[in-house]
Amino acid sequence: MGYFNRVFTGSVIMAMLALPVAAKEYRVAVGDGAGGTQEALGKAFAEALAKESGGEMTAKLFLNGQLGDEQDTVTAAATGTLDFSILAINNITPFSPSVGTLTLPYVILSQDDAEKLTQGEVGQKMIEQTVEDAGVRIIGWGYSGFRVLTNSKRPVATVDDLKGLVIRVPKNDIMIETYKSWGVNPTPMAWGETFAALQQKVVDGQDNPYMTIYSMKFDEVQKYITDLRYLFSIEPLVVSEATFSSLSEDEQKQVLAAGQAATKASAEFLRAEEAKIREELVSRGMEITAPADEEKQFIELATTTVWPKFYDQIGGKEHLDEVLTSLGRPPA
Ligand code: MLT
Repeated sequence: MGYFNRVFTGSVIMAMLALPVAAKEYRVAVGDGAGGTQEALGKAFAEALAKESGGEMTAKLFLNGQLGDEQDTVTAAATGTLDFSILAINNITPFSPSVGTLTLPYVILSQDDAEKLTQGEVGQKMIEQTVEDAGVRIIGWGYSGFRVLTNSKRPVATVDDLKGLVIRVPKNDIMIETYKSWGVNPTPMAWGETFAALQQKVVDGQDNPYMTIYSMKFDEVQKYITDLRYLFSIEPLVVSEATFSSLSEDEQKQVLAAGQAATKASAEFLRAEEAKIREELVSRGMEITAPADEEKQFIELATTTVWPKFYDQIGGKEHLDEVLTSLGRPPA
């Protein structure tokens, strides 16, 4: 190679080395609107990811199901056309049935229970199982509080009051069966269609946490709330396993560390905000009713009939027993 070529090639290489490496920008699908758990989890993740990776990986949130309905984002992530998604756990269960243990009625009875399960051994096993079943890896856990029942027609305090109401539920067998145990044949419907269905009175009600009712502006189309505690909503942040396995070992560590930081931030967010948001919904005209007799009838019907129906699907009664025992409760 002549002198000129050597100098030219050398300077091209030097220039290439000096070029800043383009940051990888990832898209994060978020099912809910602004102001709720999912956005808080996503923002904390994006901030931590940029910090952990020294700005080489960034994450951009797309709220309100802009990148697809929650269940569809699982398929998109599994096939590698989407990198990250934040969604309610009940919308992962159809793809990874053992995660259903977390949506069995009255298994999780407090935020402490939710944190203990997800951040402990049970959560770790679920992460592995979900990678295998659904092609997505849970890297962060959002905590959204109990799903309370809302409707536009009347206060509901007893199982009898529920009769005759048309209630939307996610396409989740466990939740469908829970309502059936209360004598209601619910309407399974995708999350993205729910606001319009409530507005057009195709359905009378639905259930979701206070944080979600607020972030989705359901107070505009719903009046009555029943403070049910049958299902504590966990809202995971998942990464496409195809995306995750394409990262270097260091990048994987950074993504996992950012997920852990987001989990911590989400737990703090719920503790700090839920009571305020509940108050805000009341000030906007919503009316809250406590379930009669400390919810005993709801609890009795749901646990005695729904749990046994799903033992096979969730990986056996032993799996539920393991979860209950890890929470210091007697086996089923
Ligand atoms: C649902 O009801 O489908 C979900 O819980 C909605 C959500 O992700 O907030």
